[in-house]
Formats: sequence, C-alpha cells, structure tokens
Amino acid sequence: MRFTVIILLLTLFSLNKLCESNSSCKAWLVQSIPTDMPHLSQVPGVLSTGDVLRWLAANSTRRLDVIAQYWQLLASPDDPRTGDYGYTREQMQEFGAHQGAAVYQALDDAADRNVSIRLLSHSGIYPTFNLEPSKLASGRPNVKNVTLLLKDWWGSGIVHAKVWISDNRDVYIGSANNDWKSLTQVKEVGIYLAGCHGIAKKVEVYFNNLWKLASLNSSAYTKTVMDQQWQVERKVPCWSHFIKPKERCKSPLPRYVKTRHVSGYPILSDPYMFEASTQTPGSNYSTKLPQVNYLSFAPPELSFGSYQSDEQAWIDTIKSVGARETVRINTMDWLGQSQYTDQTIYWSSLSSAISEVVFSKNATVKILVAYWAHFINGTDEYLKYLHYTNTLCFSSKYNKCAGKVEIKYYMVPGFNKTGSALQNGTSTGNVYPDFTRVNHGKYVVSNVRAHIGTSNLVWDYFYTTAGVSFGTYNTAIVSQLREIFDADWNSPYAVPIQELESESIFLLSNR
Ligand SMILES: *[C@@H]1O[C@H](CO)[C@@H](O)[C@H](O)[C@H]1NC(C)=O
Ligand SMILES: *[C@@H]1O[C@H](CO)[C@@H](O)[C@H](O)[C@H]1NC(C)=O
Ligand SMILES: *[C@@H]1O[C@H](CO)[C@@H](O)[C@H](O)[C@H]1NC(C)=O
Ligand SMILES: *[C@@H]1O[C@H](CO)[C@@H](O)[C@H](O)[C@H]1NC(C)=O
Ligand SMILES: *[C@@H]1O[C@H](CO)[C@@H](O)[C@H](O)[C@H]1NC(C)=O
Ligand SMILES: *[C@@H]1O[C@H](CO)[C@@H](O)[C@H](O)[C@H]1NC(C)=O
Ligand SMILES: *[C@@H]1O[C@H](CO)[C@@H](O)[C@H](O)[C@H]1NC(C)=O
Ligand SMILES: *[C@@H]1O[C@H](CO)[C@@H](O)[C@H](O)[C@H]1NC(C)=O
Ligand SMILES: *[C@@H]1O[C@H](CO)[C@@H](O)[C@H](O)[C@H]1NC(C)=O
Ligand SMILES: *[C@@H]1O[C@H](CO)[C@@H](O)[C@H](O)[C@H]1NC(C)=O
Repeated sequence: MRFTVIILLLTLFSLNKLCESNSSCKAWLVQSIPTDMPHLSQVPGVLSTGDVLRWLAANSTRRLDVIAQYWQLLASPDDPRTGDYGYTREQMQEFGAHQGAAVYQALDDAADRNVSIRLLSHSGIYPTFNLEPSKLASGRPNVKNVTLLLKDWWGSGIVHAKVWISDNRDVYIGSANNDWKSLTQVKEVGIYLAGCHGIAKKVEVYFNNLWKLASLNSSAYTKTVMDQQWQVERKVPCWSHFIKPKERCKSPLPRYVKTRHVSGYPILSDPYMFEASTQTPGSNYSTKLPQVNYLSFAPPELSFGSYQSDEQAWIDTIKSVGARETVRINTMDWLGQSQYTDQTIYWSSLSSAISEVVFSKNATVKILVAYWAHFINGTDEYLKYLHYTNTLCFSSKYNKCAGKVEIKYYMVPGFNKTGSALQNGTSTGNVYPDFTRVNHGKYVVSNVRAHIGTSNLVWDYFYTTAGVSFGTYNTAIVSQLREIFDADWNSPYAVPIQELESESIFLLSNR
C-alpha cells in the first residue's frame, strides 16, 4: 500500500517535471505607459497591460481567478464624487478610458460563457467600492465575489496583490490595478505567463489561501502578541511564527507555512525555486534552456511550503548583484518605516541590503521613486538617509568602498494637474483625472536576477498586506527589465534628488 503511494507520488512528480520542462510556457514583460509621454523611449517586445488583461479574460474557457485591491475599470466622468468628474467624452477617449471598458466587457463575456470566476478584493474605494465585482456576480452562480479585510487579521493592511489566473494556465502578476487608469494613465510593470500550468498552479495555492481566509471568522483565529522581530504589539493570525511555538494554532488554510524557524520569519536558507524552460517571444535573447524561477508572497503567514517571503526575495535580489555591477530598483513609495500601524515600526531591511552591496561589492544601486500628487511625507528624508551611504562609503582611510547609490524622482508630466475637471460647477483647471500620472511599477533587477512584484517599499506591504512576486534568473527577462528601467531612468521625466532640492519650494507649493 505504502509502496503504491510512493510510486504514485513519483509518477506525479515526474509528470509535473515533464509539464514544467515543456516549453509551451511563454513569458512577456507587460507595461502600461501613460499617454502624453513623448520623450520616453519604447522598449520593443513588451506587451500592453490592457491587451493582456483582456486576453486573459477572453481566452478563459473554464476558470478565472482575480485578486484586486479595488475595481474601477469603468470610468465615471458623470459622477461628481469621482476624480474622473467633468471630463468630456472626447477627453475620456484621449485618456484611453475605453481600454478599461474593453477589459470589463471581456470579463462580462467570460461570465456569460459560464466560466467559473472568483473575484477576491479589498473593500474597494470611494465612491463605488465593490460595485463592479458585484455587478459581474449578480444573478450568476458561476461568478463568486468576496471581500477580504486583512485589517481583521493583521490589525492593518489590505489586499494589494494584482493577480489574474486563467484556466490554471495563464497568469498576470504586476502593479496594475483593475482600474481603467492603470491601463493608460499610470505607468505599470508586470509579467504575463502564458501556457505556464506549473507556475499558475503555484500561484493558485496562494489564491486559495486568501479565498479560505475570507470565509473564516478572524476573531477565532487571531492573537495580539509582542512581535520580538519588529518590537511592537500587534495582531497576527494564530498560526503566525511571530507567536511562540507552544501558543501557536494549527493553520486552517489549505496549504500553510511549514518553516522550521521558531521566532520571526528569518531568511530561509534554501527557498523553493523551480526550473522552467520559458520562451520569451518579446525578446531577442530568448533561450529554451530551463532557467531558475521563484515566487514570493506577503504577508509571511499566507505563504506555504518553503516559499520565501516577499521581503526576502527583494533582499536576495539586491544581494544577487555581482561585484561592480548595478542593481535597479523601481517603486512608487519608499519609506524606511511602517505607514499604517498603531506603533510606528522602523524598517531598514532594504536600505541595509543596498548599503551592504555598495560597500562590499562596489555595486551601483539606482533607485527610481515616484513623485506625484499623492506623494507620501517622509520619503524625501529616508531617501536622503540612504543617499548618505555615499558619504559613509568614503568616510575613512579604512574603507575600500567604491560603490554608490543614485536616486531619482520620476515625474510623469501633468502629475501636478490631476483631479476632477469640475468642482461644484466650476472648472478646476486640472488636466488629468485624479490618481493618475504616476510611476507605479514595483520591481528590482540586478545583473542576473529580476523580481517583479505588487508591493510598495514600505514595511506594511511585507508584513500586513497581501502581495505576490514572480522572480527569475531568465537572461531574456533580466535584460529586458533593465531596458525598461533604463528607458525611464534616462528620460527627462527622471530627476536626481539633489537637483530637486533647489526646486523643493515649488514642488511643495504644488501639492
Ligand atoms: C508539450 O508541448 C507540445 C508541443 O511542443 C504539445 O503538443 C504538448 O501538448 C505539450 N504537453 C503539455 C503537457 O503541455
Ligand atoms: C530584435 O532584433 C531586431 C534586429 O536587430 C530588431 O529589429 C528588433 O526590434 C529586436 N526585437 C526586440 C524585441 O528587441
Ligand atoms: C489569447 O492570448 C493570446 C496571447 O497569449 C493572444 O494573442 C490572443 O489574442 C488571445 N485571444 C483572445 C480571444 O483574446
Ligand atoms: C455552467 O457550469 C457549471 C459547472 O461548471 C455546470 O454545472 C452548469 O450546467 C453550466 N451551465 C450552463 C448554462 O452551461
Ligand atoms: C457579491 O455580489 C452580489 C451580487 O451582486 C452582491 O449582492 C454582494 O454584495 C457582493 N458581495 C461582495 C463582497 O462584493
Ligand atoms: C467568531 O469567533 C468569536 C470568538 O471565537 C465568537 O465569539 C463569535 O461568535 C464568532 N462569530 C461568528 C459569526 O461565528
Ligand atoms: C572595490 O573598490 C575598491 C577601491 O577601488 C577595491 O580596493 C576593492 O577591491 C573593490 N572590491 C570589489 C569587490 O570590487
Ligand atoms: C505633508 O507635508 C506637508 C508639507 O510639510 C504638509 O502640509 C502636509 O500636511 C503633510 N501631510 C501629511 C499627511 O502629513
Ligand atoms: C462644494 O460644495 C460642497 C457642498 O455641496 C461644499 O461642502 C464644499 O465646500 C464646496 N467646495 C468648494 C471648493 O467650494
Ligand atoms: C508642475 O510641475 C512642473 C515641473 O515638473 C512645473 O514646471 C510646473 O510649473 C508645475 N505646474 C503647476 C501648475 O504647478
């Protein structure tokens, strides 16, 4: 009996291996580029987010799973409560709002084809909240919609992952929200994996963990404990490794954390990575040889098997840089602390990793941070603090440090002219809808490894917020992601932080 089970397991394992090594799996980098950015050079071979999300819905025949923070695929220029208010039909067309409508239509059509659709979201945002997933679910037994409030489980935090999985085969992971603006007015970066059954299956496990969580009574499964790692008292799921082993519960999730560590979530020495031969039709550097990939997840309590936490994957990607090579980091937000917790948490994980490679490997670390209408206070101070690494690098005769940190703010033109066009019947002078004209991608790429995620670089996104990343050593993806970064970095839209200092007065006055 036991023997049969082993044979069965072995057979399953090798079948799985076969599927993984079948080169039907294709990967493309995906971008959204805001309109009116004439000076940004285009990277050939990169797909557009609007097309990819539409295809994911249109190609699905059996199952479609979507994780979203909120939904605003349909623009609402007639609703005075929204940031779209007051723009004309012609303006909305120029802004590209029809692309969001096309994605929504493709979802509606998939629902009509009786595809089993599961929509998992945070509560949504003012003023429409979960109207779109509700409309899609209304009257259709094949469409299920749930709200998951991570605040009930971690004291703060939201569902922030942006993931689509179609037919357990095609996947999108990236920074784009289910929002028409994310397709044509916000700069986004993601990855589209088509025909990648093995990878889709792994992401599906995370989806199922979130789905299960949404149906559980959080009061019965949470504890408030002293978190020794971050030195705060906070609420966590009762199976968290931030709780002492004896006081921990058994995880009710279908697949749960199996880390052997007893306190905190220290770095795994051997995170799970898988070889997959992935074609990259969007790149000339394509190779059919199997290359190493990984997935990482946040918060750590929702991870499973020996998958690494999202924070570890960021740190390891920074540290993967070779001597005298370059790490490129792109993020909307950057803070060396928490943003939404009761007690403020100091968080130097990423800045330490950056300073470490600058010192010991003479690495150059280039960081691109968004500057826009909803820029968060404190960013500038933390960036300058990190930038001080350059001074420390040469601070004494003992130092053999020749690396450097370079930081630029990314300003999508028009970033200071966003908001509704009309307010109380008078023209506001705004040129673009609210929450647009921002560089929203979240990725890091060294000379050997690319990491494409959904998390901003602030403590909360790694410990209380749902996020997913795909990472790879695939040379085609690594080099193309570097090209995407360089196109932004070398564009007139990226301004070094030092240059900005003299202009800071006009910037503040434009908030
Ligand atoms: C493997 O790829 C071949 C074509 O290259 C295809 O015919 C076959 O169905 C694929 N097998 C699996 C399990 O995906
Ligand atoms: C591939 O190389 C050809 C010829 O050099 C070039 O025209 C094309 O744009 C390249 N494609 C990509 C995706 O880089
Ligand atoms: C299905 O996806 C492929 C790319 O993977 C795309 O070329 C095709 O247009 C999509 N089909 C539909 C119906 O959207
Ligand atoms: C829709 O799919 C479900 C399960 O996949 C099936 O039971 C049901 O009969 C289908 N409905 C129609 C109208 O095809
Ligand atoms: C799901 O959709 C149904 C049907 O439209 C709606 O009544 C319900 O409020 C929605 N639930 C959530 C959590 O969005
Ligand atoms: C949730 O769990 C708490 C604590 O165990 C219990 O008091 C409460 O009745 C439960 N709520 C529901 C809706 O089951
Ligand atoms: C870094 O640069 C210093 C000074 O040029 C040199 O002494 C040291 O060997 C370099 N280290 C590496 C890893 O390149
Ligand atoms: C951010 O800083 C500006 C300028 O110092 C200040 O006016 C504003 O109130 C601050 N915003 C928040 C949310 O603290
Ligand atoms: C617009 O009108 C609302 C009430 O209708 C009022 O509360 C608000 O202050 C007005 N805003 C401006 C900018 O006049
Ligand atoms: C917006 O910012 C740009 C710099 O990026 C500046 O030249 C322009 O004057 C600002 N516009 C307004 C309305 O403040």
